[in-house]
Amino acid sequence: MMSDKYIYIKSYGCQMNVYDSNRIKDLFSNKGYKITKDISKADLTVLNTCHIREKAVEKVYSDIGRVKKIKEKKQNMKLVVAGCVAQAEGLEIKKRSPSVDYVVGPQSYHKLPDMIGKVDEIENSEFLQNEKFKNLIFNSSNLSSEFLSIQEGCDKFCSFCVVPYTRGPEFSRPVDDIVDETKKYVSNGIKEIILLGQNVNAYHGIASDGKSKDLAFLINKISEIEEIKRIRYMTSHPIDMKDSLINAHADNSKLMPFLHLPIQSGSDKILKKMNRKHTVDDYLKIVEKIRNVRPDIALSSDFIVGFPEETDKDFEDTMKFIEKVNFVIAYSFIYSPRPGTPAQNKDNISLSDKKARLSALQSLLTQQQINFNKSFVNKGMEVLFEKIGRHKDQFIGRTIYNQSTFINSKKDLLNQIMNVKITNSTNFALECQI
Ligand code: SAH
Ligand code: SF4
Ligand code: F3S
Repeated sequence: MMSDKYIYIKSYGCQMNVYDSNRIKDLFSNKGYKITKDISKADLTVLNTCHIREKAVEKVYSDIGRVKKIKEKKQNMKLVVAGCVAQAEGLEIKKRSPSVDYVVGPQSYHKLPDMIGKVDEIENSEFLQNEKFKNLIFNSSNLSSEFLSIQEGCDKFCSFCVVPYTRGPEFSRPVDDIVDETKKYVSNGIKEIILLGQNVNAYHGIASDGKSKDLAFLINKISEIEEIKRIRYMTSHPIDMKDSLINAHADNSKLMPFLHLPIQSGSDKILKKMNRKHTVDDYLKIVEKIRNVRPDIALSSDFIVGFPEETDKDFEDTMKFIEKVNFVIAYSFIYSPRPGTPAQNKDNISLSDKKARLSALQSLLTQQQINFNKSFVNKGMEVLFEKIGRHKDQFIGRTIYNQSTFINSKKDLLNQIMNVKITNSTNFALECQI
């Protein structure tokens, strides 16, 4: 009898990498591999990496070092570096870390099963979006909610960002392919679809009539699938925030009232240097429009502090902007100069200034999040329970505004949408009862 083969996958970075890791799992399950969470059992270890900030890359190299030690004891294990670091610095990985057997970029990983066992070790020379999606396998790995990449790559070239170089040019998948993939997940019981793209609202896929359609069209099409109860999308860019999408938030009840819309800075001067292609005022106008049609919309954003030439005044403008908009959650980062990007050699803010700004910004954002969560205590809310919690009889779900919610229940609530009463709020989550 042949012994079982095991694959271990670790995902770094964004949700699109999580989606890709799921597809890599499916490709290898199809070849008879079993998934393991115990790396020492693995015949194949895949690190699906992120290149967005220097720290993310350092983590990959330190993990490669750890895998190397395990490989020394387990000679037949193969190590694959996939994802955005593989795309950006494939040759360097091979040079720095001979223990890496294969390097495969985010638009070539469909070739991975055929690469294993061959000597051809680097696959990242082209962006093969079209070919890739035609060769993937889509099995559901979750109970309630599934990520689905509908758009990949980026043509925006913000001056700090590596994504246009690691994921390649903007590519939109055809409408029918996405609907078919959704139906596959639905047949496994999935109730929520989260549409993914580096610029998801720039989506312009072809429909069966041969014409290109926008994100609002796609959302409305997916919402025709009865079993789908919730639709989300991320990440959007302000310049692609079309009226059709804004109006979908009013017209389509399955589209959740949550918008992740990164701005990065509240200073027009910095936005210009970042090549974001819009002003603070443009962003505020979008906020006004969407709040007009959907007053309870929950807004989220990304911020970078310490971008080259950001003065105290520019930072103050960002703080004022945050106070004005009121975000329910946000992600903030210290500027990290990235190889090959236009801003790379301009880094001129001291680390201590960057840290002080990050800390001030995060305490303001956390306060807004706490206030938002508090405002629901003693109120009713609709929650989709997606996971079993760490404690006995505990379930974890999400509200329509994407807040994490805990409940204690003897009854099995998994994959059910329930009307609950919020009983308590912590900084980052809610507690509730039926
Ligand atoms: N496509 C999305 C986000 C891409 S990356 C957008 O257009 O906004 C996710 C976030 O990482 C970005 O929004 C930005 O806040 C952050 N980021 C990207 N490059 C960075 C860098 N060089 N240093 C620090 N943060 C960065
Ligand atoms: Fe990066 Fe800008 Fe593209 Fe977002 S829009 S992925 S930040 S280049
Ligand atoms: Fe990182 Fe690549 Fe996503 S650089 S954030 S894994 S697109």
